[in-house]
Amino acid sequence: MYKPVNLSTDIYYVGVNDRKTSLFENMWPLDKGVSYNSYVIADEKVAIIDTVEAGQFEKWLAKVRAILNGRNVDYLVVNHMEPDHSGAIRILTELYPEMEIIGNKKTIPMIEGYYGITENCKLVKEGDSIELGNNKLSFYQIPMVHWPESMVCFEENNQILFSSDAFGSFGTLDGGIFDDELDFDSYIDEMRRYYSNIVGKYGNPVQKALQKLGGLDIKMIAPSHGPIYRENIERMIKMYDQWSKYEGEEGVVIAYASMYGNTEEMAEVTARAIAEEGIKNIKVYDVSKTHPSYIISDIFKYKGLILGSPTYSNELHPNMESLALKLQHMGISNHYYGVLGSFTWAGAAAKKLNVVAETLKWEVVAEAVEEKHALKADKYEACRELGKAMAEKLKA
Ligand code: FEO
Repeated sequence: MYKPVNLSTDIYYVGVNDRKTSLFENMWPLDKGVSYNSYVIADEKVAIIDTVEAGQFEKWLAKVRAILNGRNVDYLVVNHMEPDHSGAIRILTELYPEMEIIGNKKTIPMIEGYYGITENCKLVKEGDSIELGNNKLSFYQIPMVHWPESMVCFEENNQILFSSDAFGSFGTLDGGIFDDELDFDSYIDEMRRYYSNIVGKYGNPVQKALQKLGGLDIKMIAPSHGPIYRENIERMIKMYDQWSKYEGEEGVVIAYASMYGNTEEMAEVTARAIAEEGIKNIKVYDVSKTHPSYIISDIFKYKGLILGSPTYSNELHPNMESLALKLQHMGISNHYYGVLGSFTWAGAAAKKLNVVAETLKWEVVAEAVEEKHALKADKYEACRELGKAMAEKLKA
């Protein structure tokens, strides 16, 4: 009992929603859940494009079987080996032992490594294609979007790009599956959070992928997470282009750690000065309260960033240290930057936060402000000057 969802006459959506898992990759919050998208092409030959996370196998297989109606599977296309998509490969090969598994030269060793499968693997190279009848799939590699083996496939007759993690989003598909069936704008924050958290480190590979795929005449983008795009393709590609160039909008994230409110007060004073200069997008986050997932997403959204921390045992506050490390691991570039710090007997936080800017080549808009004990008049003014300098940069 399943009413098929068609992308075209022979192509079906068989993805599933996960509202139970709390953390994606056991790290990133899934308060709106996530979908694992998978597709079946039931032509003269049958191909499945990616599977789902292992725990979702039963409900996914029920959809696949409803489409197949007793037919065998000729091909499983493995666009990406991360287990949220490859988790059902082993059991699928047991159900369909004749099925060929299609991957590139980096995929095949991973299939063996993860699942011990060495037989019936078909190697494809850049630009290779397989004929399914009316449908023809061509393969393009997009290394590091998100793993080295990542690839996409393009169905030539219906001009559908099966884009793997690229253009994916957090958030389940709550009835609407295509972008014109849902409130597209309400997904944008989850799209950017997914991009920034999962793919954000790989801005250059995303740029290369966009250039490579730019030559295709795409009528539909069918990613491995989130909505299928047929109305907002240009908009989606434009957002990906901006995010992967780290081209933030006018706005500032002020993220601080604070034990007893002194660094927090510096953040408040700075934020007020920025607002007085006419900047409206100002997001102030306590890193001990808000998960870095959301802070990082806003750091991708806005051009300005101010980090603040007290000195804690001669180091950064551990929760700020964690965020700063993540930013460095992700290699986020192209930001205006400022630093706030406080200390009780010896200051170290501001120095350490300055190092983040050196590593990531951010443009420092004003000298770091670091206060001993509670905020006093001269450093109050220095916070305001930092805020003004940030606002000036943003407006310029
Ligand atoms: Fe959705 Fe990189 O896996």
